[in-house]
Amino acid sequence: MGIPAARIVFPEPDRAEIASAVTDILATGALTLGPYTRQFESAFAAAHGGGKDSGSRLSAVAVSSGTAALEILLRIAGVAGRDVIVPANTFYATAGAAVSAGARPVFADVDPATFALSPRTLAAALTRNTAAVVLVHIAGLITPHADDLRRLCEIHGIPLIEDAAHAHGSTFGGRFAGSFGAAAAFSFYPTKVVTCGEGGMILTTSANLAEEARIYRDQGKASFGANHHVRHGYAWRMSELHAVAGLVHLRRMEQFIDRRRAVAARYDAGLAEAGFLSPLTEPTGSLSNIYKYVALLPPGVDRAWFKRQLAESHDVRLAGEVYDLPLHMQPVLAEYASGRSLPAAEDICQRHVCLPVHSDMRDDEADQVLEAVAKVAADAPAGQGDHGCA
Ligand SMILES: Cc1ncc(COP(=O)(O)O)c(C=O)c1O
Repeated sequence: MGIPAARIVFPEPDRAEIASAVTDILATGALTLGPYTRQFESAFAAAHGGGKDSGSRLSAVAVSSGTAALEILLRIAGVAGRDVIVPANTFYATAGAAVSAGARPVFADVDPATFALSPRTLAAALTRNTAAVVLVHIAGLITPHADDLRRLCEIHGIPLIEDAAHAHGSTFGGRFAGSFGAAAAFSFYPTKVVTCGEGGMILTTSANLAEEARIYRDQGKASFGANHHVRHGYAWRMSELHAVAGLVHLRRMEQFIDRRRAVAARYDAGLAEAGFLSPLTEPTGSLSNIYKYVALLPPGVDRAWFKRQLAESHDVRLAGEVYDLPLHMQPVLAEYASGRSLPAAEDICQRHVCLPVHSDMRDDEADQVLEAVAKVAADAPAGQGDHGCA
């Protein structure tokens, strides 16, 4: 049997529970922003350190996508006409949300040890016109410098926003993703560790910010029942059908992360022995949800060749990169590129791969991936793969 790039796991009892709830939802006609959305919001906040007994006043606001969550936060930050700093190695949506909110994205380089902004790369990108900074927890890994980044933002009087699209349940120093910035945006796109098909969630400890987000997500209306629009919002609501799927899936989050971390540990051990790929290592104190298992190819090894060999000769499909082309090289964002190179982002974008990780992956499947990688490494054309990794 081959190994697919991704496998979305909704066990049978969960599917039955969702189907039954969907029947109820359709019968009642309460199809959007109803009781399931509220339950999903409370459960998501609780799963990220905001439970009733935690003492934290974490608010969650469910929206239609991760991109919507980001755009709402950027609109609230008042970024129109100003700059928003984003890492160069992120998904298009991080910058796309800034553009949609009327801002100019500014691309910053990253620390190759974490794939995230560092105080140095952020300082190099900050200008007087910077209105907000977006820290992306790439692959689910939270940088140990998150608090330093926030302090740097505070000195400049601007918010740090977390793009936590990859980081459901990830922690650093025992604190969950969503607790490092002024607010965080999560995505429930199908490949994410928790999904409901399409959807997003905002987490924030600011009750005012949560209230603003609720206004924005529902066409800028002062309240659900009102017909009086006080903000330029949009149709960023979450439907009840999505909310119930997310609520049920969320209950699996810990179990899924445990399995993903077990697979990652198996990969770490196997790759340490084989010595071809160099995995991105978790900094002390950081516990990733292993949304992606990232490893660098030796310099000079052609990624397309490596992926093709794994797929064609071993039926092993790698997950998508995070990311293969940095934002300053994306055609649609060319007008925002400064022309300066961002060497760390360019290097890691070109040279990493993501081994497949599924929330129900078996040990023998992980071993099959490791065997395939070892065989392809042994076949690497002369001059490739035997000179370690910088
Ligand atoms: C880093 C990052 N930011 C933002 C998003 C946007 O999320 P969505 O697809 O739910 O709009 C994604 C989703 O894939 C992402 O990976």
